[in-house]
Amino acid sequence: MQKISKIAVLTSGGDAPGMNPCIRAVVRTALYNGLEVVGIRQGYKGLIENDMYDMNKRSVSNILNLGGTILKTARCLPFKEDEGMATAYKHLKEHGIDALVVIGGDGTFTGALRFSKKYPDIAVMGVPGTIDNDLCGSTYTLGFDTATNTVIEAIDKIRDTADAHDRLFFIEVMGRDSGAIALRAGISCGAEAILLPEKQTAIEDLIKNLKEGHMNKKSSSIVIVAEGDKNGGVYDVAKAVQKEVKNYDIKVTILGHLQRGGSPSSFDRILGSRLGFAAVNALIAGESQKMVGLQANNIVLTSLEDALNHHEFKLEADLLQMVDILSI
Ligand code: F6P
Repeated sequence: MQKISKIAVLTSGGDAPGMNPCIRAVVRTALYNGLEVVGIRQGYKGLIENDMYDMNKRSVSNILNLGGTILKTARCLPFKEDEGMATAYKHLKEHGIDALVVIGGDGTFTGALRFSKKYPDIAVMGVPGTIDNDLCGSTYTLGFDTATNTVIEAIDKIRDTADAHDRLFFIEVMGRDSGAIALRAGISCGAEAILLPEKQTAIEDLIKNLKEGHMNKKSSSIVIVAEGDKNGGVYDVAKAVQKEVKNYDIKVTILGHLQRGGSPSSFDRILGSRLGFAAVNALIAGESQKMVGLQANNIVLTSLEDALNHHEFKLEADLLQMVDILSI
C-alpha cells in the first residue's frame, strides 16, 4: 500500500454550492492526519500552469456558507492532451504531491481517470460536485439540492405572475445531459409538463396536455424545459406550442447561471463535509481511482469507471410517473 504524505485538492468544471464545505473538510481532515495540503487554483488549468499554494487550517476559515469555490474552477481542454497531462504530472512531482482530490462532475472524472491510469503513482479520489446530479454511485451530488431550491424559489415567483395574468410560461433550467433539476423542481412547483433529455416528449402530446388543462379551467400553466431537451430549445418549443394554443399568452424565462450560485443549503454543507472527510480517509487507506458518494445515507466508494457509466444512470422513476397525474 502506497503511504501518502502530501495531498492536493482542486475543483473543476461547473462550480456547485457545497464545493467550499468540501474543500474545508479535505484540508482539515488531511491536516488532522498529519498530511500536508496544497490547493490548486482553477482545476486542471492550475495544475498545468503550476498555480498552487500551501493550505493551512485558516486557509479554509469562514467558507462553509459561501457559494462558488475558493479554489476557482475552469474547463480545461489542454488537460485532455498527453502533453498537458505530462506537465501536470511534472508539477505534482516537483511539489512532492502523492495524492489528489478532484471535486467535479463527469468531465472532471474523465480527466482524472485518464490521468491516473497514465500516472498511477499519484493516488486520485473523486468527489461528485455538480448541480446536474448525474453521476452513478452517489444518490446526490454536491450542489444539486441548493440549485434545485434556487430553481423552486424562482419558479414559485413566476407562478404568481403567471396566475395573475393567466399565462403559460416555458422555463428553461440547467442540465445539458441531465433532467434531474427539471424533474425535482417540476414536482415541487406543480409544473404542468416537464421536458427532459432522458425522456422524449412529442410536441403534439405537450399541446394536447396544455389544451386539456385549459379546458379543465387551469388559468396558468408552467412547462419546465431542461437545457438538454431534444425538441430544439425552449424558444422553439414555445413557438411550436403558440401556433396551436391560441388562447394562452406565452412567455419564456431562462434561469441560466443563477442556478449555480448562492449559499449552500444545509444538505449540501453536510454532504460536502462528509464527502471531503471520506475522500481523505479513503486515500489514507490506500484507495485510488475511486469516487466517494452517498448511498442510503452511507458513504460508498465507486470506481471512477462506474461513476461515469451514464447508461446505468436513471432519473427517479416514481417522480417521472407522477408528473402528469399530480398536475391534472
Ligand atoms: O455541469 C453543470 C452545468 O451547470 C450544466 O447543467 C450546464 O449545461 C453547464 O454546466 C453550463 O456550463 P458553463 O457554465 O460552462 O456554460
